[in-house]
Amino acid sequence: MATADLQSFRAVLDSAGVIEGEAPEAARYLHDWTGDYQGSALAILRPHSVEQVQAIVRICADRRIPIIPQGGNTGLVSGSIADGLAQAVVVSLERLNRIRGLDPTNFTLRADAGAVLQTLKDAAEAEDLLFPLALGAQGSCQIGGNVATNAGGINVLRYGMARDLVLGLEAVLPDGSLWQGMTGLRKDNRGYDLKQLLIGSEGSLGIVTGVEVKLFPRPANVETAYLGVRSFEDAMALFGMARRVCSDLLTAFEVIGSECIALAQLANPDTRVPLEGDWQVHVIMELGCSSAIDGRALIENLLGEAFEADLLGDGAIAQTRAHARAFWAIREDLVEGQARRGRHIRTDLSVRLSDVARMIEDSRRHILSAWPSWEPLAYGHAGDGNIHFNVMPPPDLSNEAIHDSGKEILDGLYAVVRKLGGSFSAEHGVGRSRRDTYWDWLPPEQRAAVKAIKAAFDPLGIMNPGSLIPL
Ligand code: FAD
Ligand code: LAC
Ligand code: ZN
Repeated sequence: MATADLQSFRAVLDSAGVIEGEAPEAARYLHDWTGDYQGSALAILRPHSVEQVQAIVRICADRRIPIIPQGGNTGLVSGSIADGLAQAVVVSLERLNRIRGLDPTNFTLRADAGAVLQTLKDAAEAEDLLFPLALGAQGSCQIGGNVATNAGGINVLRYGMARDLVLGLEAVLPDGSLWQGMTGLRKDNRGYDLKQLLIGSEGSLGIVTGVEVKLFPRPANVETAYLGVRSFEDAMALFGMARRVCSDLLTAFEVIGSECIALAQLANPDTRVPLEGDWQVHVIMELGCSSAIDGRALIENLLGEAFEADLLGDGAIAQTRAHARAFWAIREDLVEGQARRGRHIRTDLSVRLSDVARMIEDSRRHILSAWPSWEPLAYGHAGDGNIHFNVMPPPDLSNEAIHDSGKEILDGLYAVVRKLGGSFSAEHGVGRSRRDTYWDWLPPEQRAAVKAIKAAFDPLGIMNPGSLIPL
């Protein structure tokens, strides 16, 4: 049976398009970026045209073969990796990766779903435009994966999530038909907006094959500051002040608990924090302005007001783009350093802006009292109310013990967030690792709606089974 299936796929793909699941070259598609998840599959399929994606899906629909769509495989919730689905095929979009075209008058760019995010950003920049989606994985994640997960990142504050940046979508539906919605229209109220349903559906409703994204004028003048403050409460008060003083020009406002700096140093021993003294919370903020606006004056004005209000301990404004890049490297290196510490507990929590400091404080208190040998770390996109509150195990704890305690630790942290009316998944999605939590939290009438939507798109249940929705 498996052999016949492989033959059918070989008939519609070239020889480089089919990698058997047991082959050594398949390994990189079958474990995730963190190394926490290991999967299996009958084969990895690598279409290089939309027609090939359709042909694959038709075969899968005929033979009820489960499909796991895969982009850059940088997702953090085991959505593109499945354990226990040995008969599934991973459909990697990596060869469907052309930039289809840029329309400077419409301020849009069209790309195949497998185009790496950085290539879209570069193509926009070459025309002096900006595609603002920005995340640590941008050198390897794909625009299709970004859309499928509704990715966030550091510029959500000004430009929104992936959902807000998509003006057109093309997807192969689970029966192999092509849903064409590459309209590039900013206004289009013809009934239900199905593209918004596909965005964030994590491969459960279809395979995204093309995306048309919004572009923006590239800020000519960018100001970046690295600041030290005494507490998360002060950081949030500073954020409120920054929004008012800097108008709508703020593009990023990230926080880093000082305990996280050791992670950046682990990834890069040359890490230098540009602050005098020890401050409990570090803030990286950025403004993007057109050349007519004096961003430097705005940010200096803000820092002056913040010092006067006793909200700011110390701070540095980047004098060159290289300085700014060095500030941002500290933030990006946290994730790399964290991975080097091995298995740990990761979260992606969001609450109302007014509850961010309390959420971190309550979570920290909970860990320090219930799990005193574990180390809480908090960093994230404070301006969006999104904190990655992570917990590092004591040294030498086995992976099994980390896994077993992890569930209880997460339950404690999720209880804090739930009490505050927040979310356990601000930007990374649900996948397989958060599926049960998703389902537990979902009120019965919403479960019914989710099941009905899934059944309407995918009556055979072949699209990414077990991810997002329980089997
Ligand atoms: P994958 O990991 O391959 O897949 C993710 C999900 O999308 C899976 O369910 C998969 O089935 C589905 N999928 C992928 N491609 C398609 C397609 N073409 N059609 C249908 N379904 C598809 N995320 C954030 O939101 N913000 C961050 O700041 C952030 N920072 C990160 C930093 C690092 C260092 C890393 C490793 C990850 C980070 N992430 C972040 C998580 C991750 O990069 C994003 O979720 C990203 O959008 C995933 O894209 P991908 O192409 O790698 O998708
Ligand atoms: C970040 C990823 C982990 O914000 O979402 O670095
Ligand atoms: Zn994040």
